[in-house]
Amino acid sequence: MSSKRSVAVVGGGVGGKLSIDAVNASAKFELAAITDMRPEVCESWRAKLPGVRVFTDHNEMFRECPTDIVCVSTFPPSHEPITMDALNALPLKGILVEKPLGHTAASGRAILNAIKKRGIPMAVPHNMLVRKGTVEVLKRVRAGEIGELRSVTVQSDKWDIMNAGIHWFNYFVALTDREPIDHVMCLCEAGTRTYRDGMQVETTAVASAVTKSGVQCILNTGDSIHTDPEITGGAPFRIVGSRGQIAVGSWSNSYFIQNREHPEGTVIDAGSYSESGHQRHLETMADLIGGTPDYAIPESSLMALELVEASYLSSKHHCKVTFPFADFVPPTPVVWEPGTPYSGTGGGRDGRKL
Ligand SMILES: NC(=O)c1ccc[n+]([C@@H]2O[C@H](COP(=O)([O-])OP(=O)(O)OC[C@H]3O[C@@H](n4cnc5c(N)ncnc54)[C@H](O)[C@@H]3O)[C@@H](O)[C@H]2O)c1
Repeated sequence: MSSKRSVAVVGGGVGGKLSIDAVNASAKFELAAITDMRPEVCESWRAKLPGVRVFTDHNEMFRECPTDIVCVSTFPPSHEPITMDALNALPLKGILVEKPLGHTAASGRAILNAIKKRGIPMAVPHNMLVRKGTVEVLKRVRAGEIGELRSVTVQSDKWDIMNAGIHWFNYFVALTDREPIDHVMCLCEAGTRTYRDGMQVETTAVASAVTKSGVQCILNTGDSIHTDPEITGGAPFRIVGSRGQIAVGSWSNSYFIQNREHPEGTVIDAGSYSESGHQRHLETMADLIGGTPDYAIPESSLMALELVEASYLSSKHHCKVTFPFADFVPPTPVVWEPGTPYSGTGGGRDGRKL
């Protein structure tokens, strides 16, 4: 009998392929089945992986080919129903749910709660958390090597808050060691009516998230965003502390650090792991099967999803979204146009009274 964990992947697109390749590259797993609702995607997987069973319906796959592990790699709105179906149908030992956990924080929370209730380990593949360069940066910031963390700016060209911004917000949450959020403000414009990964998204947005102690993340996303030419290898991050700064690309092995030890600034190459981020996440999850699950990354992913949803709500309702997010209720709209002359009547607050 094989000691490998059997794996099924739901969703055979870009995200699903990352899990499929990771499973095939690892000695810990055996890929048993793939589901994709599109017959042409199924055909292409049948041709590439003749020994693997391929389905168009995940419930049929769960009935016909039960596995130890399921990877949920479809679009965010279907993560919850597919996860619940997997939990109900299978004696699951572990699960991977792609980021963003759901299309809303409530959906992500429902997924995480259901998995916690089952007590099985869970992977959410935020790969900045398993790459050598960005993990090293995280450790340096947390160790105080640039002093106290003050701000993080991120430029996310060609990508939106929901689908890539979730990674960037998740890294911000990790940099602050999951410090509670105070509020989020955001403005989106949707001139091009862009959609991506099953979601309507912004053409351009600027979002600001501030923690209780005042650490700020400014995230600029959209179809055409200026990026710092000196920070390469993914979305540019500039992480500023009270005594230094670090500049790093989201997927880069190297980063620039300027602090007391490196007053002129130095580029450090942290190197890379031979295996992919998805393989690292899946193997870490598999090692926890039968032990105590660690939900730190799923929890940070959920916090990031709250920042994502808060950003869109802030823009929709033209308001500051205060946290805890679960308690937020959009305020009654006010008739007040900042930037236009004040008539002298009609109330308001005298801003000269500081
Ligand atoms: N962690 C990462 O680095 C990473 C990278 C890429 C994508 N993703 C995530 O993967 C997920 C999917 O995005 P993608 O880029 O693979 O999109 P995609 O369009 O490339 O693929 C999605 C696939 O899922 C299939 N699908 C959709 N709903 C289904 C259902 N109910 N049952 C079966 N198949 C279904 C579609 O037919 C499609 O082939 C998203 O949540 C995305 O954010 C994560």
